[in-house]
Formats: sequence, structure tokens, C-alpha cells
Amino acid sequence: MTKLAGLKLVERDADGVDLAFRADVLAGLAEPQKAIPARWFYDDAGSQLFEDITQLPEYYPTRAETEILSTRSAEIAALIGEGRAVVEFGSGSSVKTPLLLSAIAPSAYVPLDIAGDFLRASSAALAAKFPGLPVHPVEADFMRRVELPAEVAHLPKLGFFPGSTIGNMIARTATDLLRSMKETLGEGALLLIGMDLVKDEDVLLAAYDDAEGVTARFNLNLLARINRELDGDIPLEAFVHEARWNDPFARIEMHLVAREDVAFTVSGRRFAIAAGESIHTENSHKFTKRSAQLLLAAGGWEPRARWTDEARQFSLVLAESCAPRSAP
Ligand code: AVI
Repeated sequence: MTKLAGLKLVERDADGVDLAFRADVLAGLAEPQKAIPARWFYDDAGSQLFEDITQLPEYYPTRAETEILSTRSAEIAALIGEGRAVVEFGSGSSVKTPLLLSAIAPSAYVPLDIAGDFLRASSAALAAKFPGLPVHPVEADFMRRVELPAEVAHLPKLGFFPGSTIGNMIARTATDLLRSMKETLGEGALLLIGMDLVKDEDVLLAAYDDAEGVTARFNLNLLARINRELDGDIPLEAFVHEARWNDPFARIEMHLVAREDVAFTVSGRRFAIAAGESIHTENSHKFTKRSAQLLLAAGGWEPRARWTDEARQFSLVLAESCAPRSAP
């Protein structure tokens, strides 16, 4: 029988405000370079806009990763083996997850996501596609160690972290996350992780500033979310979406640039931003084979196999949890 047992783990105040969201926004807006962590893009509207981005002609990562999962599924399955509980960090990838689940015959599927409604909807859709597969959605912030449902405690785990979401973190946070994943998944775990590759700047900039303006709407939705959930009065029309390539850090940055001097209130606090200044809303790091390997090693994972799509735009890495080692 398919099981859909959601656990609620996000902390809210009496008005339903996500406390971590408010803390991050108030702290980030008080910085000299205003910045808000990218994970707050994903309320229900943001999650839907992101799904729309994945369909854009300019946004190659989803197509490239899907190509790898479909054309290399036999090799991937042979290395992973059958009977693992697949723990997906984030949920809602409508195409990729079924591709993986069909390839490897897992014993359970545990999607972890902070966007509760989206999590429940995508879990229900997934459960309908795989009758007989136990599905245990957990509403949680997976940046910290997550207590997995008791039903999967005894099973060997495969962490699945597609989409190069790891690239949305600076190295220190990415390393912390990789270590938390080790703790969440336990001994003997494998991790299948998507890591986007460094490439031509024009291709990257187009992927993050599409002609239709969907990415701009995705970026601006963060301000709409702040207004809605944190009692804000930010004038959205005073900000414009901008994508920048930061070469020393090998990353695309997304900013919301003020068109004019703006003052606004969020949760009773007053903020001001001068014309031309920005709120930095996202980093999307791009990797080489070496930088990917180094990051995984720092997080306690040893790469076992690596695949790229035919155009070599994107990589999928299978890594194994390794014991701490301080010498070669
Ligand atoms: C989720 N993440 C990997 C996306 C990326 O490519 O960095 C988010 C995104 N931002 C703008 N477009 C897509």
C-alpha cells in the first residue's frame, strides 16, 4: 500500500509566520550588500515559477540532466543496486524522479521539502505513478540533519539531489549541507548529485535572464512573498531583475536592482536602498570536474562515477559516504 505520511517540522509563530524566513530577511536587508538566501524563493508561487523556468529554451540544466538520467539509466542502476530508500533533497521534479525510480527499483521514496503544499501535491502525483512504492514526504528544512521516518530507518539510502541546487550555496554552506546529508542518510549511503558545469558566459547569462521574463518574475516573487508573509510594503515596480557572471567565484548571481531610491517596511522594520544598489538573491555556482570533486570531498563524499550529457553542459555524480580522513 502506498503511504503518504507528512510530518510538519517548520517552526512558525502564532500568526503562521515562518520564523527562519523572517530572521533571514530582516538580517539580510540590514547588511551593506543586501542579500536574501535563495531557498526562500520556493513558496508555492515560486516553486511553480521554477517549474516554468525548467521548460524555457534558454534554461538547459533540466534538459541536460534528464538526458543523462534517461540515456545512462542502466549504468546508474547497476552501480546503485536495488532496494535502497531514495531520499530526495527537495521535491517536485516532475520528470527526473520517476526516471530514477523506474531505473533502480527502490524500496521507498522520501521527498524532503520546505514548501509543504507543493511537497504534498508532488508526492501524491508520484505515489500515483508508482503504486506499491511507500512514499513518506517530510516537510523540513534539509539544510540541517533531518530525522527520517521510522519506516525507512533500517534501509540502505540513496540521497538524490538533482538540478545543481548545491550550486545555489557558497562553499561553506554547501560543505555543511553535504555533511548534514551524510548524517541524515547514515552509514553506507550513496548520493546522486547534479552539478552544473562552467561554460560560455553568454549561454549562462541567457539561462538566467530569459527572453520571456519568467526568471525575472521568479526573482521578483521573493519580494511579493515578503510583502505577503512578513507584512511588507516593498514596491515591486521599483526593482529590476539582473543576472551577472562572477568569474572569480565561477557563479551566476541574481540581483534585484533598485531603479530609484526606495524606502519600505518589513515586519515593522524600516529599510532603505539607493538607486542602482541591489538585493542579492541568488548564487548559482558552476563546476569543473575538479572543483566538483573537491567540494564533495570537503563534505565527506567520494565520487564513484560521473556522467555528462552529450553537449557536456551538465554533470551527474554518484558519490559514496566516506569515513573522515585527515591524511592521504
Ligand atoms: C534550483 N537552482 C538549481 C536553479 C539554478 O539554476 O540555480 C534556480 C534558478 N534560478 C534561476 N533560474 C533557476
